[in-house]
Amino acid sequence: MTLSGKAKLAGIIGWPVAHSLSPRLHGYWLSEYGIDGAYVPLPVAPENIGEALKSLPKLGFAGVNVTVPHKEAAMRAIDELDDNAMRLGAVNTIEINEGGGLVGRNTDGFGFIENLRAGAPLWQPGDGPAVVLGAGGASRAVVAALLDAGVPEIRLINRTLARAEVLAADIGGPIHVIPWSQASDAFDGAGLLTNTTTLGMTGHAPLDVELARLPGTAVVNDIVYNPLRTPLLEQADVLGLKTVDGLGMLLHQARPGFAAWFGHQPEVNEGLRAHVLAGLHGREDKSS
Ligand code: ATR
Repeated sequence: MTLSGKAKLAGIIGWPVAHSLSPRLHGYWLSEYGIDGAYVPLPVAPENIGEALKSLPKLGFAGVNVTVPHKEAAMRAIDELDDNAMRLGAVNTIEINEGGGLVGRNTDGFGFIENLRAGAPLWQPGDGPAVVLGAGGASRAVVAALLDAGVPEIRLINRTLARAEVLAADIGGPIHVIPWSQASDAFDGAGLLTNTTTLGMTGHAPLDVELARLPGTAVVNDIVYNPLRTPLLEQADVLGLKTVDGLGMLLHQARPGFAAWFGHQPEVNEGLRAHVLAGLHGREDKSS
């Protein structure tokens, strides 16, 4: 469609940003809904992040997404943080309010839980403890979202135990930290297993865990989506367990930003999934 002089503007700030699938994702919705707007990649070096964010209202942007390596640093340039961004210590979505102030949000946990509910509609938070592998930024969003949803216990497993302990203390609630070597003991009685580590991603080591002790009713989810069917999900398939891949987390986390910037509640459907997947397969850089 043709952009008018009144087109609404948004984009994604990262460094590098060329690999990001977000312009393709938002571009699909803009065209699907016939919106007079644009969503562009904005490569910003770390030393320029504060200045770049403060320029956005002056340039007339409605808002932006923020990705690696800026999610924590962006907090310092923000005028107002929502409770979730504050709790997670990271921002992935910024809205510019009527006064030109930057409002920071974090929609990763929303994207995670919406993807889980869409992919495994029978899963209930009360089904049992959730096992979460990894204690990085993505894990923080996942753990907080699961506790908010009402999961009775999180069994948090990470290679670096101290990092998991810090996460548990920061987020609070019924989080039990378990050493990596005892991972399979943690699977007894679990309702959900989610991998938030980079293991299994193209170009990374495989995730080597034995799923046999998971109950037959457990759901297995990987937030890695490149490849879409990770070795973890394949092992779960062989055991007949319900699986949910990671692409939907990327798609769903984008919804609140799009709605705020462009004034239309977007839908995640098969057309969007296929369009974004085609971008994933077509790109040269196969990292996340
Ligand atoms: P993100 O922000 O996407 O979560 P991150 O903060 O770099 O990324 O976290 C990566 C996660 O993958 C961490 O839990 C990391 O474990 P450590 O905290 O011990 O570093 C995990 N990870 C990466 N490579 C790993 C490996 N070879 N074995 C086990 N865990 C690994």
